[in-house]
Amino acid sequence: MTCAVVLGTQWGDEGKGKITDILAGRSDAVVRYQGGNNAGHTIVVGDRTMKLHIIPSGAIHPGKIAVIGDGCVVDPWVLIKELEYLEGLGIPADNVFLSDRAHLIMPYHRLLDGIQESERSGSGKVGTTGRGIGPCYMDRAGRFGIRAGDLAYEDVVRERIDEALRKLGPRADGSGMEADAIASDLRSVQERLAPHIRNTVDMLNGLVKEGKDILLEGAQGQMLDIDRGTYPFVTSSSCTAGNASAGSGIGPRNIDRIYGVVKAYTTRVGEGPFPTELSGEEGEAIRKAGGEFGTTTGRPRRCGWLDLVVVRSSVAWNTIDTLAVTKLDVLDGSDRIEVCTHYMLDGRRVEYFPSHIRDLARCEPVYVEMEGWGHPDWSEGVADRVMDYIRLIEENTHARVGIVSFGPGREQTILR
Ligand code: IMP
Repeated sequence: MTCAVVLGTQWGDEGKGKITDILAGRSDAVVRYQGGNNAGHTIVVGDRTMKLHIIPSGAIHPGKIAVIGDGCVVDPWVLIKELEYLEGLGIPADNVFLSDRAHLIMPYHRLLDGIQESERSGSGKVGTTGRGIGPCYMDRAGRFGIRAGDLAYEDVVRERIDEALRKLGPRADGSGMEADAIASDLRSVQERLAPHIRNTVDMLNGLVKEGKDILLEGAQGQMLDIDRGTYPFVTSSSCTAGNASAGSGIGPRNIDRIYGVVKAYTTRVGEGPFPTELSGEEGEAIRKAGGEFGTTTGRPRRCGWLDLVVVRSSVAWNTIDTLAVTKLDVLDGSDRIEVCTHYMLDGRRVEYFPSHIRDLARCEPVYVEMEGWGHPDWSEGVADRVMDYIRLIEENTHARVGIVSFGPGREQTILR
């Protein structure tokens, strides 16, 4: 039995979908444990590109059990669409299960996400995905959220909708939010989703007891983590390996392997600090070469050099044993490549990510410059100069690079 976690070490979009897909091939079950359809996981098989937002990306392997765990927030209408999307691809969706403890994103959460963002001043805007993620987690913490298991109890659902709309007050005026209509829509949701809603904690612990292999799939990345990230420019859940246990119900002692996914450079979508960001032509060149546009919102991603302070911190916070480095091919043909190894703050060397963005703003990234590696023939393995880059990552993060990825396809991967 192995229970492994795959998580993003940067600001999301590291290529977790692809790495999860590869590891899922050897797993019996794949599990999402946090976040919602703010995530966008892209998987390329042959000439087919598949995108999933809430169903674990491992679900594209027919026959795998796919679980959306307790710690997720789920827009039920998006889930229904994704179940249909899978079926349309000829992948049976009867093995997709939604935790009865997962919270549901309601239309008024999406509305409030937009209102909150418009109420924030220019420099305070988070740049959320607008999917209602934050407001849904707020209701969860406020103890009036609707969980998937509540759908079986119409009176509970109605009480929670009424309470949520009461709290929204005049902000809902003119929005067309109407309790009767939402309750009625949720009755149809219940009919459609009932076969998928389960006590997934019992299910997963049963699989652990049977000795099955389980893969826990993180969304977003460590620097978007609600506690550890660049608060308040973060998402509203914890993206850490620690939360893989809390968000799935699998006890921490049953988790035995943690994979961290690192993109060969850094990107960020939305607002917030980004020490190694490249403005101008260099950033634009990476964006173009890497196709760096959001899977969920289509927004152009901000691009910059690899920041090993970020990755080193992620390794430490999550006890990552294996790193998967993705999109190395995007740097093919670069004349020179820079890598940030540490920051300087008031004459002191900073090795780990500061806890306050005001301190981060005063940090000066320190780079090592490497000559580019040209256009290596990836089919011949990892070229020597690419190997230097990988060694630099290993030496600076104290984690082994076990997976090297040089393109979106499954076959564009080297396991070391
Ligand atoms: P939210 O998760 O929609 O509340 O957005 C909060 C911040 O997290 C914004 O900056 C988003 O752009 C960012 N974000 C959320 N999900 C992802 C993701 O899957 N990849 C990259 N950025 C994300």
